[in-house]
Amino acid sequence: MTLTPWWHGAVLYHVYLRSFRDLDGDGYGDIAGLIDSLDHLESLSVDAIWLSPTTPSPDRDWGYDVSDYTNVHPQLGSLAQLDELIALARGKGMRVLLDLVPNHTSDRHPWFIDAQSSRDSAHRDYYMWADPRPDGSPPNNWLDDTGEPAWQWDGATGQYYFHNFLPEQPELNWRNPAVHREFDKIMDFWFDKGVAGFRIDVANGFYKDEALRDNPSNDERLPGVLYQPGKHGQQTVYNFNQPEVHQVYRDWRIRAEQRGAAGGEVPLLLGETWVLHPSQLADYYGNNDQLQLAFNFPLIFADFGAQTFASLIDETFAGIPQGACPIWAGSNHDLSRLGTRWAAGDIAKMRLIHTVLAMLPGAFGLYYGDELGMPDSDIPVGLQRDPLTLGGKNGSWPRDNARSPMRWDDSELGGFTTGKPWLPLHPDRSLNVAGQDADPFSTLNYIRSLLALRRQVHGGRLNRYRQLAATDTLFAYESGDARVYANFSDGIQTAHPVWTVALSTLGKPIAAAGAYELQPWEAIVALR
Ligand code: GLC
Repeated sequence: MTLTPWWHGAVLYHVYLRSFRDLDGDGYGDIAGLIDSLDHLESLSVDAIWLSPTTPSPDRDWGYDVSDYTNVHPQLGSLAQLDELIALARGKGMRVLLDLVPNHTSDRHPWFIDAQSSRDSAHRDYYMWADPRPDGSPPNNWLDDTGEPAWQWDGATGQYYFHNFLPEQPELNWRNPAVHREFDKIMDFWFDKGVAGFRIDVANGFYKDEALRDNPSNDERLPGVLYQPGKHGQQTVYNFNQPEVHQVYRDWRIRAEQRGAAGGEVPLLLGETWVLHPSQLADYYGNNDQLQLAFNFPLIFADFGAQTFASLIDETFAGIPQGACPIWAGSNHDLSRLGTRWAAGDIAKMRLIHTVLAMLPGAFGLYYGDELGMPDSDIPVGLQRDPLTLGGKNGSWPRDNARSPMRWDDSELGGFTTGKPWLPLHPDRSLNVAGQDADPFSTLNYIRSLLALRRQVHGGRLNRYRQLAATDTLFAYESGDARVYANFSDGIQTAHPVWTVALSTLGKPIAAAGAYELQPWEAIVALR
């Protein structure tokens, strides 16, 4: 019997745990705080919760530098609390997804400590080591994410090791089969605990060019090589997106399906597939035999506009294999929130974007705080905590601005903590759950209605998508029993939904089928 995958039509809520809710008063959100907040997620028709890394870490990159893959960071809670979360969430119909970081470890991970101890150590080949060039310089010109040389000299053993992120995040060597076996065990450990799947960090990065060729600069066009402008003047064509990575996902998918065949649930593999072209995104679905979901970065990087959205959505559907499920998400913990990046702080535009993305068939990702209409914060350099982007290092955007703690009430600390918040809260106190809960016209209540409607239309299904209109100012589509009309302009436009208008971003009452006057930046959902 083939069961419909639960993520078809699902809402995945992305919790940046340290910023969600702090119960022990240390200023950092924790698992206990999330357990205490499950009703909020239930009210948003959430099907699964994706937690930012929960594993022990020295926190150079806030958990994305893992020092133990099968435990819980003491600052966030315990294994027992994670078990409790999984069980309580299940009781409310929600699954728990963890963040898996297979591309690199912390330099404090026992594997790396051993690897660094000598060239003959048991774990030396778990990492990427290379000899210097004859003049002692790094093996090639690759830069890390912060714009610094990506090779770190290890004086004791006389070789460089590679890092695409911080030097404290040495990259694992996926050409070593032992690394594959380690991650098979790690994944089984969590699946056996009832974790429903993983968001896979840097899913496009595990392999690097075997010959370690120099990356071309942004100005060069290499024949036969996809143009991939990077942020530090260099195309990342040889240190990301190597073809070998796809075999990892074929293998993982087989293992996932085997769990299903053995009577369990098929775990979800959701990739952080940071690619620029829809065709590259499709590669991560393979013939529907690799990742079941791959985050759509080409869409995230798109300009805000009816036609750009429409064409990226079209290209996504055209690219992914038959039966594969897209995921639509506009914000995450690394980038400016959609409320700022696309909507420039305008609530009407934020609601329009949510409506357009949430009513598409597939899965939908909601980043904590977006349901309140939270835009980016502007955290002063002295209070920033992210070493990768601190002070806008090398032109980077300070990621802390998208990680402000959640406000649960209108008090100064928003009910987030009783201690000193690890990052400042957004100054706008109206961005809080209790206040918006009490206001029928709030963004929170709009998003609740939208996601309830989404569940009605798409829950447990993968409906077809059909574009109805894509002009400079109007985007409309049909999927399942719903039609969406979105007015991307300051003018009034008439739409012909024919069907009954069930939801308007402006909170207008249900309207009978027929022509409908869309107000500026209004979006509506009409039902057959
Ligand atoms: C991913 C994470 C990001 C982290 C990086 C290195 O891009 O989303 O937060 O810094 O990987 O692990």
